[in-house]
Amino acid sequence: MVLSRALAAASLVSIVVASPLQLQARQNSSTACAEVAASVASQPATSTPSVDAKLAYDCITSVPLHKDEALHLLEGVVPYFRWQSTTAYLKDPPAEYVEKIQPAIDVWGGLEKIKSKVESEEYKNEFEFGFDLYTLLQQTHDGHFVYVPDVVGTIFNWARPVPLVSVSADGKELPKPYVYADVLAESYGNATFKPSVITKINGQEATEFLEAWSQRGSLQDRDALYNNVFYELASVSLGPTGSGIGTFAGSGRGKWVYPGPETELEFENGTTVTYTNVARVLVTLEGVTDGESLYQKYFTSQGTSTTSDLPSNSSVATSTASAMPSATTTSIPAPGYPPPIYREQHNLIGGYFLEDEYSDIAVLSVPSFVGIDTAEIDFQQVTEKFIVAAKAAGKTKLVIDVSANGGGTILQGYDLYKQLFPKGIGHAAFDRYRAHESTKLLSEYHSRLADSIPRELVDESANETLYALEYDVIASPFNYQSDLNASDENFPSWEAKFGPFEHHGDNYSNLFHWNLSDVLTPYNSAGIWVHGYGELANYSSAPQPFANEDIVVVTDGYCASTCTIFSELMRQREGIKYISLGGRAKEGITQAIGGVKGTNNDPWSYIQYLAQLAITNLTSSEEEAAKLNATELGDYWDNVVFERQAVGTSVNVNFRDGIRDTDETETPLQFVYEPADCRILYTKAMTIDVTAIWKAVADSAFGGESHCVAGSLDGYSTGTRKVKRELTVEDRALSKRMHAWRRELKAEQYPLDVYTDLTGMDLNKRGIMWP
Ligand SMILES: *[C@@H]1O[C@H](CO)[C@@H](O)[C@H](O)[C@H]1NC(C)=O
Ligand SMILES: *[C@@H]1O[C@H](CO)[C@@H](O)[C@H](O)[C@H]1NC(C)=O
Ligand SMILES: *[C@@H]1O[C@H](CO)[C@@H](O)[C@H](O)[C@H]1NC(C)=O
Ligand SMILES: *[C@@H]1O[C@H](CO)[C@@H](O)[C@H](O)[C@H]1NC(C)=O
Ligand SMILES: *[C@@H]1O[C@H](CO)[C@@H](O)[C@H](O)[C@H]1NC(C)=O
Ligand SMILES: *[C@@H]1O[C@H](CO)[C@@H](O)[C@H](O)[C@H]1NC(C)=O
Ligand SMILES: *[C@@H]1O[C@H](CO)[C@@H](O)[C@H](O)[C@H]1NC(C)=O
Ligand SMILES: *[C@@H]1O[C@H](CO)[C@@H](O)[C@H](O)[C@H]1NC(C)=O
Ligand SMILES: *[C@@H]1O[C@H](CO)[C@@H](O)[C@H](O)[C@H]1NC(C)=O
Ligand SMILES: *[C@@H]1O[C@H](CO)[C@@H](O)[C@H](O)[C@H]1NC(C)=O
Ligand SMILES: *[C@@H]1O[C@H](CO)[C@@H](O)[C@H](O)[C@H]1NC(C)=O
Repeated sequence: MVLSRALAAASLVSIVVASPLQLQARQNSSTACAEVAASVASQPATSTPSVDAKLAYDCITSVPLHKDEALHLLEGVVPYFRWQSTTAYLKDPPAEYVEKIQPAIDVWGGLEKIKSKVESEEYKNEFEFGFDLYTLLQQTHDGHFVYVPDVVGTIFNWARPVPLVSVSADGKELPKPYVYADVLAESYGNATFKPSVITKINGQEATEFLEAWSQRGSLQDRDALYNNVFYELASVSLGPTGSGIGTFAGSGRGKWVYPGPETELEFENGTTVTYTNVARVLVTLEGVTDGESLYQKYFTSQGTSTTSDLPSNSSVATSTASAMPSATTTSIPAPGYPPPIYREQHNLIGGYFLEDEYSDIAVLSVPSFVGIDTAEIDFQQVTEKFIVAAKAAGKTKLVIDVSANGGGTILQGYDLYKQLFPKGIGHAAFDRYRAHESTKLLSEYHSRLADSIPRELVDESANETLYALEYDVIASPFNYQSDLNASDENFPSWEAKFGPFEHHGDNYSNLFHWNLSDVLTPYNSAGIWVHGYGELANYSSAPQPFANEDIVVVTDGYCASTCTIFSELMRQREGIKYISLGGRAKEGITQAIGGVKGTNNDPWSYIQYLAQLAITNLTSSEEEAAKLNATELGDYWDNVVFERQAVGTSVNVNFRDGIRDTDETETPLQFVYEPADCRILYTKAMTIDVTAIWKAVADSAFGGESHCVAGSLDGYSTGTRKVKRELTVEDRALSKRMHAWRRELKAEQYPLDVYTDLTGMDLNKRGIMWP
């Protein structure tokens, strides 16, 4: 069956091939994988060759299941799954979560099911197995809980070659899907062009198809997931490390889900267009002749792996998520973004002024909270400098846009908040982690060392060992001297911090929060001090730059991790209003914060490092080491999970929950539904010019026409904006620049093929959740 189909395809290929390389390759084309290898060999000029999705699928599903190795991998994930803080809640979530967000999921039960399917040889091939394992974690809709097996992500990334948008005709009608290129053509091509609505996809009602597809994403909120299906300027501005052009077209989590051979779009005007789906081939396939040889080359412990055998020390606390450009990234195009006043070079943050009647508005666009060491200081300084510039230019209102923000450095989230509110309360929700044998032993050992060496910043070059101990042990959340308890005091002992405390049928640590004055803050913040603390302590006497009612935050729902910590500070501590954009084609309010609300992810490699470090370095004799090695901490020596992880992916658990201090049930915020204050729908203009979003937000929040289709910002605005201010010379110059920028916009500036690309990234050294 496979043979005859492959031969037929090979003879079709022969019509077009000519080069000697291709001729030689064709002789190998007796299986789907050989055909892929041949096709790749015939595209030597492309850095990332592509083949038809169907051919790639036939290849990857021809890899036979290796039963013993599969069982080994399933054993390997167990120690790391124990660190996932939410398994008890996922299995038995609050009713409102089930009703409005996602269904329950039994992670441990699911793992058992996969194991018994492997044992009874129910999986037809390796891909079915690997995709089931990937999907088990993906279905938790916890963006911090992710494992991508090699067979799912090492060889192919899938895509539909047609990014879409979902827009409302007038900002009031429910949104409908369009081909993004059509919207560009209408805006920048011939004025007569009228894009037609997509009514059906592969024969199914379009919005139903898209909603079902959106569930493959990483977010928990369904409207946020829906937005993530589509092309979005904020994601595109993050380049290869953002969620790009939407999951429908193969960005973000879309890249790991086979979209079928073709995509058929049926339009309202009666036209039907069929696209051939593609697979990007990410590795060389030299010598691959069939599924088994593909397995031997890439899916064995001896096969290619990006992760080193040595554990790394990527910091626990510096990062909670997403979107980390490499140090080598230069300037990334940000189509649809106007000339900035200040902008970080990877577009992680930018300050902008609006023109004409919006001249009183300053906009801070924050699509990331940073995870790259070299960007930390620049990121912090953009806000510092922008606030000064905005005040100097007489701006009175501030719009903050956190669209596409998957998080980053936790304390950058605190810092942005403290720059805006110098006297604001310095902690968001409480943190807690899951209490089990491994975390208990680490608490004991980290705390014990803390009693014998002083808590101080040390110079790495002066004493590398001491530096590593301060960085990974003394500054760690397992050390009782780190963090503060619920009455803002230090914990008296490791037992006081660790607990355990039983909730919802599981055990957890005590509640704690950051001590931002801590001398070791720079080790947990990738080097910065938070404004108002430590070296920046005097900022607490600075005046608040904008009144609370003059600040509004807008999101696309993607807001995850550190972005949710920032939002907790803004909403709970300061009462700042949040506007959510877009959402499904349904009436009613949506959530503004739809990404994982866990407050810290841990890479599995870091967990392994901590376990091994405790056994080898924190014990005082060989006997003690052997004893510790015989506990659960000795379960982390096997490297199978790293050897079998897809190249260039990051693997994490959610380590800390966020618990709101007013919530007596102590339910993790991940399971709490929180509607936005106002919902605004995307329009076509907003998908090509981000200032259309900011103006709709400013109008709705600060006087003028409200664009809220649900919720309201009534009583928020001081109403003074109606009185247009006299334009200054600088305002006029800026307006001129903005008009010139808008005139220069062209369809070609909007990339239609942004792919996640992690080549050359140091994945082991960071705590990052990639899109
Ligand atoms: C075809 O197979 C031969 C023998 O297995 C191998 O030497 C050659 O490199 C293959 N060619 C391509 C293009 O894969
Ligand atoms: C604009 O219209 C002209 C004349 O109908 C046509 O030749 C041209 O291809 C169109 N351009 C675009 C960008 O659609
Ligand atoms: C119908 O709409 C589609 C999508 O906008 C467009 O590509 C196609 O050209 C239109 N067909 C006709 C006949 O106008
Ligand atoms: C470095 O620090 C370690 C741990 O405190 C200590 O044992 C060692 O003597 C120090 N080395 C030097 C050269 O000071
Ligand atoms: C820990 O990570 C930092 C930053 O990446 C690095 O400079 C340092 O050498 C690492 N230390 C150890 C002990 O691996
Ligand atoms: C915090 O710790 C102090 C002692 O270190 C203790 O007196 C206080 O009761 C603790 N607060 C809470 C809420 O546990
Ligand atoms: C929680 O920990 C305590 C003390 O170790 C133990 O007795 C209890 O069984 C644990 N509860 C759960 C639900 O694991
Ligand atoms: C916070 O950290 C600082 C510096 O390490 C320390 O002096 C202080 O006691 C800690 N606790 C509180 C409650 O500030
Ligand atoms: C804090 O100190 C720095 C440097 O000493 C100074 O430049 C800054 O103006 C001070 N800030 C405040 C708010 O006092
Ligand atoms: C851990 O022990 C090894 C071997 O003795 C040593 O090379 C390394 O520097 C130690 N690391 C730390 C952080 O103490
Ligand atoms: C710990 O035990 C494992 C076997 O479970 C062994 O491979 C490893 O060498 C041991 N390490 C130490 C430091 O005892």
